[in-house]
Amino acid sequence: EVLILLYGGRSAERDVSVLSAESVMRAVDYSKHTVKTFFISHNGDFIKTQEFDEKPADDEKLMTNISIDLSAKIKPSDIYEEGAVVFPVLHGPMGEDGSIQGFLEILKMPYIGPNITAASVTMDKIMTKHVLDAVGVPQVPYVAVVGSESINEKMVEVNEKLTYPVFVKPANMGSSVGVSKIDSADKLEEGLREAFKFDNRIAVEQGVDAREIEVAVLGNLNVKSTLAGEVVKDVAFYDYNSKYINNKITMDIPAHVDEKIMEELRFYAELAYRTVNGSGLSRCDFFLTKDGKYYLNEINAIPGFTQYSMYPLLWENMGLPYADLIEQLIILAKE
Ligand code: DAL
Ligand code: MG
Repeated sequence: EVLILLYGGRSAERDVSVLSAESVMRAVDYSKHTVKTFFISHNGDFIKTQEFDEKPADDEKLMTNISIDLSAKIKPSDIYEEGAVVFPVLHGPMGEDGSIQGFLEILKMPYIGPNITAASVTMDKIMTKHVLDAVGVPQVPYVAVVGSESINEKMVEVNEKLTYPVFVKPANMGSSVGVSKIDSADKLEEGLREAFKFDNRIAVEQGVDAREIEVAVLGNLNVKSTLAGEVVKDVAFYDYNSKYINNKITMDIPAHVDEKIMEELRFYAELAYRTVNGSGLSRCDFFLTKDGKYYLNEINAIPGFTQYSMYPLLWENMGLPYADLIEQLIILAKE
């Protein structure tokens, strides 16, 4: 069975995508699959890269965006192959927002991860908040600002409903471009004007002093979740854990949280996933404050997927190793 990997992509998160794809290339069960890879360049060209019938040797160099012949482009529909399953290991706009998913639907190719609805709803911060509000998933207080002509009226609303600092974020969460932390009312307009350069839909969120706790979700109609993990910032470890260190971020799995809160986080992660019509996988990121309040911050429908990323590590902690997780996702894609 052929597994097609799409990686790279047009969003600012393409480097994460390349690393995730390389991890998948090395971990696939080659007794069951052959792998064909296609790189998507920053301007959206599809380029055929490598094919593997067996596990690449540990020292074999995999093609990444630096070694790719950009002139060797193909028509996107040329990725079609009867019976193949596609893993769009892509993040952000044009990867995780329903566009690639719609394209694969048209090609009638089974694919791993979010369907069109789940991808498009979770890609838009305001849409996600509205949808999750409807089912009572806890979220930080926010104000949605749609269209820059409503700035004045919305600034009044922000000052009434929220306390500083607040975060101003373009709704389309491809990257942190356009995001700013605003400490006082006199800086709000500037932050909004900056964000409006990137999107016509802006979410203003209450800042909270909180830990970042994440839950992995897997499944289609039958949804499973993991114990949560914590993203620990600015902590230096010099032991075994140091291999997970990246920009002084490390992971604590399972997170040290109260058992009851752990259960509730898993409950809300699964509820949120079902509510956005999740399919395949998602990583639900929460804020947890010192006094035990928690808020769902975002749903990543295609989370970072290297073997050292939070999502696969959360499953490994539940007894599902990386290669088996990939196999599960392939099975879910065909359901
Ligand atoms: N959006 C990135 C890839 C993540 O949250 O994992
Ligand atoms: Mg996140």
